[in-house]
Amino acid sequence: MNTTELKAAVDKRRTFAIISHPDAGKTTITEQMLLFGGVVRQAGTVKARKSGNFAKSDWMEIEKKRGISVTSSVMQFDYDGKRINILDTPGHEDFSEDTYRTLMAVDSAIMVIDSAKGIEPQTKKLFQICKMRGIPIFTFMNKLDRDGREPLDLLNEVEEVLGIETYPMNWPIGMGKGLKGLYDRYNHRVELYHNEAHGETFLPLDDEGKLDPSNDLTKDSIYRDVLDEMELIEEAGNDFDEAKITSGDLTPVFFGSALTNFGVETFLKTYLNYAPKPNVHKTRDDELIKPTDEEFTGFVFKIQANMNPNHRDRIAFVRICSGEFDRGMDVYLQRTGKKMRLNNSTQFMADTRETVETAVAGDIVGLYDTGNFQIGDTIYAGKHAVQFEKLPQFTPELFMRVNAKNVMKQKSFHKGIEQLVQEGAVQLYTSYSTGDYILGAVGQLQFEVFKFRMQNEYNSEVVMEPMGNKTARWIDPEQLDEKMSSSRNLLVKDRNGEPLFLFENAFAERWFQEKYPDVKLTAKL
Ligand code: G4P
Repeated sequence: MNTTELKAAVDKRRTFAIISHPDAGKTTITEQMLLFGGVVRQAGTVKARKSGNFAKSDWMEIEKKRGISVTSSVMQFDYDGKRINILDTPGHEDFSEDTYRTLMAVDSAIMVIDSAKGIEPQTKKLFQICKMRGIPIFTFMNKLDRDGREPLDLLNEVEEVLGIETYPMNWPIGMGKGLKGLYDRYNHRVELYHNEAHGETFLPLDDEGKLDPSNDLTKDSIYRDVLDEMELIEEAGNDFDEAKITSGDLTPVFFGSALTNFGVETFLKTYLNYAPKPNVHKTRDDELIKPTDEEFTGFVFKIQANMNPNHRDRIAFVRICSGEFDRGMDVYLQRTGKKMRLNNSTQFMADTRETVETAVAGDIVGLYDTGNFQIGDTIYAGKHAVQFEKLPQFTPELFMRVNAKNVMKQKSFHKGIEQLVQEGAVQLYTSYSTGDYILGAVGQLQFEVFKFRMQNEYNSEVVMEPMGNKTARWIDPEQLDEKMSSSRNLLVKDRNGEPLFLFENAFAERWFQEKYPDVKLTAKL
């Protein structure tokens, strides 16, 4: 590709994540989008998931069993002249770290809210992660076909609870059984609900924002209420401000119903007008890598083993930040300086994996990995060495001692632990005094997934002994004296061999600091 072609290709990319509290409708809306993109022919894989044929974006057995989405997946399709990359995120709060890393690889996010429930705990948590990333957030108020809360009430809640300004792009005309349509402020029209039989779906608004008086809807009191509400919003609401959208300080809000495919396509089209193109990425040396820079760069934000249990494969997911990816190209792995050839790459189209030949900034490629990559690794081609900013690591708070149930099966036990730890599924520590394996996680469900996967994917039954909550603090190895370890703090090393203490509680940590005032303890590596 020459420079002009590269720029044109990059300009087409839109890479985003969909976040929601479980059951708000993330999978349903993703499927609708895939339908528009012509990638799947039939809706209803959500239902299929529940009846055994799980949704195409949900790979793992455990997800089927629990009906939750644990890991993130990637889907690519073309729509309206754009190439779209959707990154799915786990809905459960125990997987916030995985979500955060996924959000490092997108340029914007869609927040799906159940309009009957409003902001739920996980919406809040995921939103805060987006906010930390400072990316634009677009809101879809779902399930309008059911009786939900008043639209104004929902907007208020978003503003108050999440602390972000809202700008309603459309407004519901009725809801539940009384749903008539959407007053589309942005496109200046009314979108009628389930109107296939009558032909026209979209009715234009006049300069004053009103329907033709001959239309029956104008006689409906619901329509007149909407006009009143719109007037109120025009006067008292926020202005549409693109700069604020870009900085993540204002969220455009769309109402609709994913299940009945109402308002979803309008949403997608409008969203794509504002969704940012691939962004610049900062290196550790504060250099800004532009997506149209010629030399290829990217970083690994996720590693997943056994996506296809029959093939025992391991895939490193790379977000491309600049240049052109060509299958078979040589790149350097920054951490080791090793040169490697990228022969075996894949991209994810809803239900199939295809070998990728070329890809550009914004795209995600999956590289078949034999253990070379770690999460956060930078790869680059060309002479100029690049290292992107570190991906954040959440300090674990829950700990478990772990052993193989069958001592004869140490080999599969070690292999499983090594791979799952490399994926970032859990953290692994080793006790200084006994050499015991200790797992650390942010949430309990991570342990359950670990145990399940050890058994299913590595045929290794594990015994886990809960150690409860601990405060993990790293210590400078120069300052370490093994005598510092006591009954209130356990001395362990992390997988890089760095020493840290697991304190029983904050009191134990204070006690330690008073005893060793010169020792510097840190919360994160
Ligand atoms: P998630 O990925 O965010 O967890 O949500 P998902 O799409 O799986 O949707 C959760 C439930 O909400 C599903 O129902 C789905 O059919 C329903 N749903 C999604 N969007 C809408 C909508 O716009 N309107 C209505 N009324 N329902 C919606 P379920 O009961 O779990 O499954 P099923 O019995 O419908 O198959």
